[in-house]
Amino acid sequence: MSGTVYLIGAGPGAPDLLTVRAARLLGEAEIVFHDALVPAEILALAPRATCIPVGKRCGRYATAQRFINKQLADAARKHRVVVRLKGGDPMLFGRAQEEIGYLRSQGVEVEVVPGVTAALAASAELAVSLTQRGRSRSVAFVTPRVGGGEAPSNWLQATLAADTAVIYMGAGDAAAISASLIAAGKPAHTPVAIVASVSLPEAHTVYGTLAEMPQLVGRVRGAPVLMLIGEIYGRALAKAVQQERCAIG
Ligand SMILES: C[S@@+](CC[C@H](N)C(=O)[O-])C[C@H]1O[C@@H](n2cnc3c(N)ncnc32)[C@H](O)[C@@H]1O
Repeated sequence: MSGTVYLIGAGPGAPDLLTVRAARLLGEAEIVFHDALVPAEILALAPRATCIPVGKRCGRYATAQRFINKQLADAARKHRVVVRLKGGDPMLFGRAQEEIGYLRSQGVEVEVVPGVTAALAASAELAVSLTQRGRSRSVAFVTPRVGGGEAPSNWLQATLAADTAVIYMGAGDAAAISASLIAAGKPAHTPVAIVASVSLPEAHTVYGTLAEMPQLVGRVRGAPVLMLIGEIYGRALAKAVQQERCAIG
């Protein structure tokens, strides 16, 4: 038996943001290896499959990744349809390349099914387009998170160079991120949106400025958290400030 491993994007959480192709393959799957954040409603679309959580935890990435790679290759020797289900889109901050590389080196067929990444789901939720004529012509998706033994991240330069930046996996470092950007010349009053649990009923957003970022991360309810920075959030920030004033007054 030599099956195919499908690297599938589960999207940001809402089951109805899954692609039709992803839902069909889940229905055919015999075994599903899934990230910690994939909700039960999405796993329920794979009724014939054994579902195995393979969520990784900070600091144990390398070992965990090697183990996942091997589990996927072993499963492809026993099953026709093997699904590796990842949050958002598998090709963004999802270590997909390591899995593709290992599986190909083992002679295992791999196919990738895209998913809705958190940044795009957040933009839909906020109803603020990431690109806007004359205001935002470049967008950077960055993470300051660096694994052990990896080269340093150039997130700072990328964030400064783009009109709009979306920071993944950054909430725990909000104070350092804000301080580094301001020290590098980004105006302290640049608007930011902090969004938690995008696409889920408990989704929560707070607006503020770059200088206020650490406090905003403390105020937002839930996880995971995405941080969006740019002048395009100025209108929503002004509205949030006005609403707050009305609530107080
Ligand atoms: C390991 S990265 C995976 C990103 C994923 N591949 C994607 O395309 O969205 C995990 C980070 O994505 C962001 N994220 C993922 N899902 C999210 C959601 N529903 N709401 C807010 N942020 C989310 C958070 O910054 C989280 O720390």
